[in-house]
Amino acid sequence: SYSYDEECDYLFKAVMIGDSGVGKSNLLSRFAKDEFRFDSKPTIGVEFAYRNIKIADKIIKAQIWDTAGQERFRAITSSYYRGALGALLVYDITRRATFGNIKKWLKELREYSNSHMIIVLVGNKSDLSKNREVQEEEGKELAETEGLYFMETSALENLNVQDAFLQMFSKIL
Ligand code: GTP
Ligand code: MG
Repeated sequence: SYSYDEECDYLFKAVMIGDSGVGKSNLLSRFAKDEFRFDSKPTIGVEFAYRNIKIADKIIKAQIWDTAGQERFRAITSSYYRGALGALLVYDITRRATFGNIKKWLKELREYSNSHMIIVLVGNKSDLSKNREVQEEEGKELAETEGLYFMETSALENLNVQDAFLQMFSKIL
């Protein structure tokens, strides 16, 4: 089922990162509230969402932090990453530059977070395959090279969104 209101067994913090406009906030609102917005505004500062999920008989309170891809709107980096056990590292399959910047985001992640962090590389907007600039195979290869999990998603069509988050939280558990 979708949500659990019982007392939780664990509280897990995870973070969303990636360039502006790749769909971080919509992936999160799809996961937490089953909502999508065509007209969403760039995030300013930090936003949070919670959702209780059940994995292997444990109830996990997932606390997910979302900040701006744009440098000038971003949260203070060290506090953003503090205590995070997982990250969704997102690019847009229709904009190669956002894939090119993944290495830059990984560098920041590795600088500020602990080495056991579970990172899922997410190629979002898979519904726009006619505008695709990054092949799925390229995402897979980068993930393998860097030791990340990988998934293509569509926040719009709700494809693989639950899977991406649940994969991360189940590996944390
Ligand atoms: P910042 O907050 O600036 O870092 O951007 P963001 O990564 O949070 O992007 P956001 O979720 O605001 O989405 C940016 C735009 O992409 C919006 O117009 C969304 O409607 C659109 N979008 C997000 N996900 C998808 C998707 O899966 N498919 C399509 N077609 N559009 C999407
Ligand atoms: Mg946002």
